[in-house]
Amino acid sequence: MRFPDGFRWGVSTSSYQIEGGAPDDGRGPSIWDTYCASPGRVANGDTGTVACDHYHRWEEDLDLIRTLGAQQYRFSIMWGRVLPDGTGVTNPKGLDFYDRLVDGMLERGLEPWPCLYHWDLPQALQDRGGWVNRDSAGWFADYTALMVRRLGDRARTWVTFNEPSVCAWVGNEEGRHAPGLTDPRAAVRVAHHLNLAHGRAVGVVRDLAPGVPVGFVLPVHTGRPLPQFAERDAHLVGLFEDKWNGVFLGPVHLGRYPDSVLDRFAPHIQPGDMAEISRPVDYQGVNHYFPTYLSPAEGTAWPFKIVEPPKYLRRTEMNWGIDGHAFYQALDGLRRDYGNPPVYVTENGAAFLDIPGPDGRIDDQDRIAYYRDYLAGMHRAMTEGADIRGYMPWSLLDNFEWAHGYNKRFGLVHVDYQSLKRTPKASFDFMRRVMHENAVPM
Ligand code: NOJ
Repeated sequence: MRFPDGFRWGVSTSSYQIEGGAPDDGRGPSIWDTYCASPGRVANGDTGTVACDHYHRWEEDLDLIRTLGAQQYRFSIMWGRVLPDGTGVTNPKGLDFYDRLVDGMLERGLEPWPCLYHWDLPQALQDRGGWVNRDSAGWFADYTALMVRRLGDRARTWVTFNEPSVCAWVGNEEGRHAPGLTDPRAAVRVAHHLNLAHGRAVGVVRDLAPGVPVGFVLPVHTGRPLPQFAERDAHLVGLFEDKWNGVFLGPVHLGRYPDSVLDRFAPHIQPGDMAEISRPVDYQGVNHYFPTYLSPAEGTAWPFKIVEPPKYLRRTEMNWGIDGHAFYQALDGLRRDYGNPPVYVTENGAAFLDIPGPDGRIDDQDRIAYYRDYLAGMHRAMTEGADIRGYMPWSLLDNFEWAHGYNKRFGLVHVDYQSLKRTPKASFDFMRRVMHENAVPM
């Protein structure tokens, strides 16, 4: 299974999940600090205060990425590290950190892919209403301008948002992520304001760094009715995919919300919004992990619920079904429904137990099998014409898996959270071969 010449391999991480260094050098608190401090929200009471201590060990981590053979590195900027209150006064030490980090990538021949928002909103902005407040689009545009002025000449590609759908629905409707709201109407406003903030940020990048590619990252989901209900529930799949995919892909690529959700969104759309949101992007970032099984629900904000995958499907430690064909379907759907945009897969991976052997090695054959299955799904989509330009596994390191804390390990590199020692797993060697050979080895 060979990939075309020029196919780009990379790797992804995010700020709150790896940086730690929480009180260091004047960083402002984020909604995830607050959420972690609230008892019962995060497994084991884990927090991102130390995480992988990447803030102090970034050079070692960049060396690992070079050893892996990745050409590009998607990392995220913690908004509150550079603007402790979210707006206004900047924090020079925070800006210096990202400066050094980006220079460190260039020294190692890595292309920097900064992502402006991977969920760690400054708490000071949440106190002003966060993404529910329409002003958030302006706050985000100003923060974008700060970072593009600072890093614009060295960033290879900008990512505005990582998974706005998760921010809106998991953070504000389900409450399983910060800020922990359970308000379906607020979540719709959040979704629209995230779209607006994205569109404004694209405009900022165009003005301040002309020619530098910009886009955003969405987890593109494949919905499936439970086998026993297939026919009755088929229509729910469309609505589920509209909620999770179409609400974000539609406005950006087609200039409109899906018809099925329009009545929810219409009250929040102001004149000019859709033109701002649909400013052309240079690529679509795709995250993908598992197929989503659905069954009908009553008395809830949406008439479906997400249920466990069927028993016959193998699962990861997240209890997510393993199915590379669902990845193929997600990528193929983008080609068919959204004009075949250039795609970078910005995340894909799996959590497993990863118990070190007596020699300290982690022989994670289950993760290697997962990657084989998913790379085959991607390869098939490419063979059928999907314009996929690159792939970045999630993640370089084991890290803080949000509400699951440190228990769920997604890394190609194992992290011992006592000593903070990094140990590449067998999957690291596998991925290194894939990247080196530009092919999946037999
Ligand atoms: C998507 C998110 O972007 C990332 O932060 C998370 O760790 C992975 N999925 C795995 O759940």
